[in-house]
Amino acid sequence: MGQQQFGDYQYEIYGDGLRGVLPRFPMTFAGLAAGAEAALPPSVWSYVAGGAGDERTQRANVSAFERWGLVPRMLVGATARDLSVELFGLRLPAPLFLAPVGVAGLCAQDSHGDLATARAAARTGVPMVASTLGNDPLEAVAAEFGATPGFFQLYTPTDRELAASLVHRAEAAGYRGIVVTLDTWTTGWRPRDLGTGNFPQLRGHCLANYTADPVFRARLAKAPEEDPRGAVELFMQLFGNPLTWDDLPWLRSLTTLPVLLKGICHPEDVRRAKDAGIDGIHCSNHGGRQADGGVPALDLLPEVVAAADGLPVLFDSGVRTGADVLKALALGATAVGVGRPFVYGLALGGTDGVVHVLRSLLAEADLIMAVNGYPALGDLPAALRRVPSGS
Ligand code: FNR
Repeated sequence: MGQQQFGDYQYEIYGDGLRGVLPRFPMTFAGLAAGAEAALPPSVWSYVAGGAGDERTQRANVSAFERWGLVPRMLVGATARDLSVELFGLRLPAPLFLAPVGVAGLCAQDSHGDLATARAAARTGVPMVASTLGNDPLEAVAAEFGATPGFFQLYTPTDRELAASLVHRAEAAGYRGIVVTLDTWTTGWRPRDLGTGNFPQLRGHCLANYTADPVFRARLAKAPEEDPRGAVELFMQLFGNPLTWDDLPWLRSLTTLPVLLKGICHPEDVRRAKDAGIDGIHCSNHGGRQADGGVPALDLLPEVVAAADGLPVLFDSGVRTGADVLKALALGATAVGVGRPFVYGLALGGTDGVVHVLRSLLAEADLIMAVNGYPALGDLPAALRRVPSGS
């Protein structure tokens, strides 16, 4: 068999159309968002869709992609496209990953959204970065990955033994890397959630990785099953560790797995991370959920890639279409993270909804490569141009 052709998804859809069967899920990001808003309880919808401040950074993340375009080449005959990438010795069929989303658990109709997402990873080969804030324990999530590798995202607790326990559990469960998120040791100012007084974890949601943890449980006077409030209080005490560079040797020493740092957007931070023996950079501004008044993550990606100097650079924040995926790759990302779009698919149709979102992104990316004459991802950087403003 030749390379997998992601673009063939369109023939399935048109073929169904011939039999009078329309797609089960929306084909646009706007359609997915509208469907998710209708499907989710209002408080969960605003938690997922909302961001920090007036959400300017969140919007800017998206519009930054409009300032780039890809120039087509003709007579290339790009009948087969290779979208596969290598990451930490793993050959991935596509340059995508599922960004870590705490409360994804709550977004599936059965509240097992982490498991549903893991099953979508198994079906597509697109790796999931499982959040610390899961509604199911990381072991149960990993059990659904099938042959697809998975990564564990760590919110580093202030209790070092608990941090070590989470990392060691992830190792034992077969995760292939640890993504340490740095930009969320405290929660950013989120007017939508403040307006409804809603923060899901304080209501006891998505704490399964804590309540299943032997170190966490040993710190509790009563088991979380008996005293859920006590577990929430301990979580609040231990959640946010304001890490500094001095903590990195300790973090690095916890595991032999690749360690990535998420939230890095400045080249100097990339260089320091490299010096500390970090294996990969995850360039992201958390989808504009943490600090408003920022610069679109995409605009910072080229400097991050240059400073990384060969170290893998994962990217997310504002990716909505297959064209966006290609632009981020053209700017040097090794792999591109899907955040809100997959969560909207999850809300609409569980695993099937996530699979649809991933297949749609990959189909569009693949068809752009076909039409524009790029047989390989390596053709993208030379095709990238700034689009003059106003055009
Ligand atoms: C997130 N993100 C996130 N990141 C992380 O490291 N750990 C987490 O638990 C979460 N939780 C989370 C919840 C929700 C509802 C969203 C939308 C996002 C950030 C996520 O990994 C990614 O950086 C953003 O989603 C990218 O922005 P877009 O493309 O979704 O706008």
